[in-house]
Amino acid sequence: MKVELQQGLKSHSNNSTLVLFVNQSKGEGAAANKTPHCLSLPSELKKCFADLVTEKVVTGTAGECLFLRNTSCGDFKHILFYSLGQWSHDDHEALRSAGGNLEGALNAHKLNSVVIDLNSLGEGVGASAIQALAEGLCLAAYRFDELMSSKKEAVKEIKVVLAHQLVTKSHKEALNSALILAESVGFSRRLGDMPGNLMTPTILAEETKKACRGTKITVTVWDKARIKKEKLGGLLCVARGSSEEPRLIKLEYKGGKTTHKPIVFVGKGLTFDSGGISIKPSAAMEEMKYDMCGGANVIGAMLAIAKLKLKVNAVAIVPATENMPGPGAIKPGDIIFGRNGKSYEINNTDAEGRLILSDALTLASELKPRFIVDAATLTGAMLVALGNIHTGYFTKDQELKAQIEESAKASGESVWHMPLCDFHTKDMKGTYADLSNLSAGKGAGSATAAAFLEQFVESGIPWAHFDIAGTAWATGSRLSYTSKKGASGVMVRTFVELAKRFE
Ligand code: BES
Ligand code: MN
Ligand code: ZN
Repeated sequence: MKVELQQGLKSHSNNSTLVLFVNQSKGEGAAANKTPHCLSLPSELKKCFADLVTEKVVTGTAGECLFLRNTSCGDFKHILFYSLGQWSHDDHEALRSAGGNLEGALNAHKLNSVVIDLNSLGEGVGASAIQALAEGLCLAAYRFDELMSSKKEAVKEIKVVLAHQLVTKSHKEALNSALILAESVGFSRRLGDMPGNLMTPTILAEETKKACRGTKITVTVWDKARIKKEKLGGLLCVARGSSEEPRLIKLEYKGGKTTHKPIVFVGKGLTFDSGGISIKPSAAMEEMKYDMCGGANVIGAMLAIAKLKLKVNAVAIVPATENMPGPGAIKPGDIIFGRNGKSYEINNTDAEGRLILSDALTLASELKPRFIVDAATLTGAMLVALGNIHTGYFTKDQELKAQIEESAKASGESVWHMPLCDFHTKDMKGTYADLSNLSAGKGAGSATAAAFLEQFVESGIPWAHFDIAGTAWATGSRLSYTSKKGASGVMVRTFVELAKRFE
């Protein structure tokens, strides 16, 4: 999909479709008659539209989409009415959702030359509306079919033009942001969608290097020997059961003043989680290729931060390994030392994410950053608690919490603050070591996992942990711009928003 901005309403092929948005009237009581109307209805269509409304073909209900083939209007051959319901200018998510639905409609009707009349949204449609609409369109256009020998027949290249009476610099910047974000999210989703055999720690590191070429990101990769030398005990012990070597991937972007402390992202890069000796049941085990989405998504966020040239210093640390039950695998009862000197008992080898993240959080703390934010498909409990729309996050830092809430509001991604307290910390105490990787209590599996991670973050550094186990991949996603199945790239957009707040 190609999305462009254009001043004025003109078609650019003899087979163009004009997209017009339909709104419902707003108001209380009698005024709320929900009459559908289009704010820039061409005079040729007045009669047609009035009939459609009378016949209740167009009702204005959000998501309603009506395609009229060969209903010419000026130099447009076809018309598509898309209803937003009782839409208000600050409802960006409705436009993102419209973008996703429109992408589906364009493919279904095999349309490849489309002009969306932004003036049909009304006066004062600003940059953020354009950004949201373009994001929806481009995010929805993501496909993962590179491993198919024959590709599904798709419309060649859809060209979508966003037409506005007056195109401003801020409109152009908004479109540019949307394209960069959708591309970065797409990058993360692809990493997630790749199967474990084709997205090993080594390949993940190589793909990251490749993607960062031409940007101002420096990528450093530590191999097994270096990981050992740096005493990353957690990463090393999880990798022991696999024949694939682990990697520690570090991305550094210096967009801010050299004196400015960095913001640091940490992401779980578990390229396949079999559970290890505490092996998982077979059902749905294939989904565990997505266990590196935390890593993939922080890498995607870094790419967007660099391409948007944000004036911030940012670092991402991604510990990457498989969790397998090979001959060298860790066993329940084993005791391991992390980089910060703390010891822990392995009471379940399937609670491995916290082990590889612990060392990454220690490394992050050593950078004395302004904050550390991690993303990890850490616990099945989070999926049970919140499902696939809301990402649960943990932080005790009120300031960072406020920034996260603001960022998520701007990105349109749903987050939910989760409780983390001393009881959870107590549950993670070990019998023979400082800590246990398994909670002694019942329930609150996501909070106790977070409490374990907290032990590896230097106190005083604002830290937030995002458990994306429920949201990193979509099974029956209800978002129009995310595939029904596959990686979602969740939190890339929110993390970029967060970075903007630390410029
Ligand atoms: N990667 C899983 C978490 C997960 C499970 C993500 C299901 C998405 C869907 C993680 O490594 C794991 O296995 N966690 C265990 C922890 C338990 C053993 C304390 C879990 O959630 O069952
Ligand atoms: Mn596991
Ligand atoms: Zn895992």
